[in-house]
Amino acid sequence: MSLKPVLITGVKPTGDLHIGNYFGAIRPAVELIKEGKHTAYMFVADYHALNTMQDAEEMRRRTREIVMAYLAAGLDPKEVVLFKQSDVPAHTELCWIFDTITTMPYLQRAHAYKDAEAKNHEISVGTFNYPLLMAADILLYDAAVVPVGQDQKQHIEIARDTAEKFNRVYKTDMFSLPEPHIMSDVAVVPGTDGQKMSKSYGNVIPLFSTRDELTRAVMSIVTNSSEGRPENLFNIHKLVRAETELDAVYAEHAESFKTLKEMLIEDLDRYLAPMRAKYEELQANPGIVDEVLAAGRLEARAVTEAKMEQVRKAIGVL
Ligand code: ADP
Ligand code: TRP
Repeated sequence: MSLKPVLITGVKPTGDLHIGNYFGAIRPAVELIKEGKHTAYMFVADYHALNTMQDAEEMRRRTREIVMAYLAAGLDPKEVVLFKQSDVPAHTELCWIFDTITTMPYLQRAHAYKDAEAKNHEISVGTFNYPLLMAADILLYDAAVVPVGQDQKQHIEIARDTAEKFNRVYKTDMFSLPEPHIMSDVAVVPGTDGQKMSKSYGNVIPLFSTRDELTRAVMSIVTNSSEGRPENLFNIHKLVRAETELDAVYAEHAESFKTLKEMLIEDLDRYLAPMRAKYEELQANPGIVDEVLAAGRLEARAVTEAKMEQVRKAIGVL
């Protein structure tokens, strides 16, 4: 048994990755895990994604892309248990047990559900239940730390409530209460139009792209010839080059936004090149991802089976 606190995080395999995902989620999670202060688990939340993605080929492809992206960003499979949620049946099993102790009105207060309802979407049972599958993901591992974006804070609160509810109903101390680790110190990466970079706004700079795609994305950054320093450009540029250096560069080329864009393409390309090379290496050797996931699956299954045995005893099915 390790004495380090447990860290767990899940990532849905939806959407092509962009540099906002990298600077806002991938890099901070990899850095946190690399500190070595935790027993770390990281998984692809494929069953969560099933609520919005119902294409088998796409599911397979995107799942591998996520794993390759994290490995390319420096995650070392020796430092983390990397697995697919669907490979570990305890997640859905525990979710069902949580279903039986949670009321509908309680889940109806969840922001994601309320948003979907406000938009008048037909809401699947899986979407309604999303927070309880996430509670199971976290509580199964006795996680102390859960790195997530700000938008996931309520889900961690639901996991805490669910742990307390189970402990109260079954008069046990089975589940410990997780803490969110909100990655709020990471700035919101702006997109090519200055709004938050997001695949749903079509304003992204792709993370693993060809030089042509990168060029097209950078050239589409909105600048206004009447502005002094082109802020949209500068704010993306400072992610890959020191601000102090950029101040001088932007002053020198204040007359030519095109030159500045060309410099940004160079700097982005240079910054992303080592990651892209690793990603391509993984693409060319698909066995590596298979092996990482197979090892992760074994380890996650062992940990969760032991926990589920206690849970089954506590509820009286064993
Ligand atoms: P998108 O907005 O493109 O749909 P997701 O919602 O799939 O992105 O986000 C996945 C992760 O990437 C989340 O942790 C989110 O906080 C982070 N992220 C997405 N866009 C940005 C951004 N523009 N700046 C910082 N972090 C971001
Ligand atoms: N809901 C998270 C998101 O959309 C993904 C997720 C699923 C997750 N299970 C988790 C994150 C468990 C942390 C821990 O980003």
